[in-house]
Amino acid sequence: MTVGPAGTGREHVMASDSGWDQGSDTLRFADVNLDGRPGPLSRRLPGPIVTQALSCIAMAKASGYRIISYGDMITDQPRMDAYARALRQSVRPGSLVLDIGAGTGIFSLLACALGAAEVHAVEPNEAIELARTIAGANGYGDRIHFHQTLSTALRLPQPADVIISDLRGVLPLFQHHIAAVADARRRLLAPGGVLIPARDRLWAALIEDPKLYRPYEEPWLRNDFDLDLSAGHPLVVNTWRKINAKAEQLLVPPAHWATLDYYTIENPDVSGELAWTVERLGTAHGLVVWFDAELAEGIGFSNRPGEPELIYGQAFFPFESALALEPGDAVRVTLSANLVDGDYLWRWDTRVRSGDRIKANFRQSTFYGSPLALDKLKRRAADYVPLADDKAGIDRFVLERIDGQASLGEIAEALSARYPERFAEFKDALTYCADLAERYRAGSE
Ligand SMILES: C[S@@+](CC[C@H](N)C(=O)[O-])C[C@H]1O[C@@H](n2cnc3c(N)ncnc32)[C@H](O)[C@@H]1O
Repeated sequence: MTVGPAGTGREHVMASDSGWDQGSDTLRFADVNLDGRPGPLSRRLPGPIVTQALSCIAMAKASGYRIISYGDMITDQPRMDAYARALRQSVRPGSLVLDIGAGTGIFSLLACALGAAEVHAVEPNEAIELARTIAGANGYGDRIHFHQTLSTALRLPQPADVIISDLRGVLPLFQHHIAAVADARRRLLAPGGVLIPARDRLWAALIEDPKLYRPYEEPWLRNDFDLDLSAGHPLVVNTWRKINAKAEQLLVPPAHWATLDYYTIENPDVSGELAWTVERLGTAHGLVVWFDAELAEGIGFSNRPGEPELIYGQAFFPFESALALEPGDAVRVTLSANLVDGDYLWRWDTRVRSGDRIKANFRQSTFYGSPLALDKLKRRAADYVPLADDKAGIDRFVLERIDGQASLGEIAEALSARYPERFAEFKDALTYCADLAERYRAGSE
């Protein structure tokens, strides 16, 4: 769960390049058909091309998580210790366990070690192939059933006694986490079954950190080149990012913002008020938000600044400008997170009163953090008339030929014959077809 570009909400994107999907191990996974059998590509094409074409698919699928990132999660000791203890408390000999977002299968393996009779590991990422290999190596290959799909597309022969997941980003309000857990709870959990985690509590505080805040002012408001870069300022101050804050940087005691109870939650949107009366002189540079996890009764971990650093870190929401605060100042923040098109739109409205005087009145939102946000929203309106570009014709050409009869190579040959300028090289056509075929693969979702 390393964090990507500031505040994109796609916290999982950045990872080391040294994952299995880029190294020579690719060969082992690449020289297969899309359904896992030795593929026609390996007969038709030289090995390196097969490798290249299929590793493209693997990387496209794996975008967001690489094997190295899954390793980082497993070596996050406080997190793993708590998850392992929660499993120990919940899994009984004979239990049926569902592992949502299994990654390389760590929770599934632990469930087997605890005596689970059957485990369903569901994971859309190609890492599931590694999970399968690892399950075999540990003698659990026959007890773990692997499903390369999203949990929302999964059907189980019987409901699970235990559902375990960690679909969070820096915060639990991350992509479709809430919807996936609510769906699994409704459809896939046995009555009286156990959900791990049970709930997450979200907290916030004001933070003082001039060094952290510097790139929100420089170079936008001042720079050494006598240039006006101020147009960038509204964008950066409406963007959140991952940080690892220290306890002494908190200007006020943590305030509870929201509790996500996975046994009852339905709505992915969260809004709540935060209020503090300042007790000491300081400069607030923004809000820091984190969560405490309760995985099972009495078992959890905390991402609070000052606790041992966890992989999640905390989220920093900058203020429009640094706020000099004095004892007695009243700070009120309305913090809201709304899921729009698979990503959270954050809003933080801040009002500071010093006696009768309004010291600050900020209205900030990640909506203003992207130059394209408004255009993008307009393009999703019901009255917008879309116009497709040339790529649509190419996609249509390929999709019409994916009929369960033609091989990828045949489709690619036809594609490069029809669009010779776009696909001068056969391997480019093949990669293009393979990507599309993978996207619409029957039974994949
Ligand atoms: C943070 S990783 C967790 C990996 C591993 N379970 C662990 O905790 O170490 C989350 C994983 O969930 C997967 N994922 C996200 N939403 C999912 C869903 N609805 N169904 C199945 N997997 C999902 C992602 O592809 C990713 O591999």
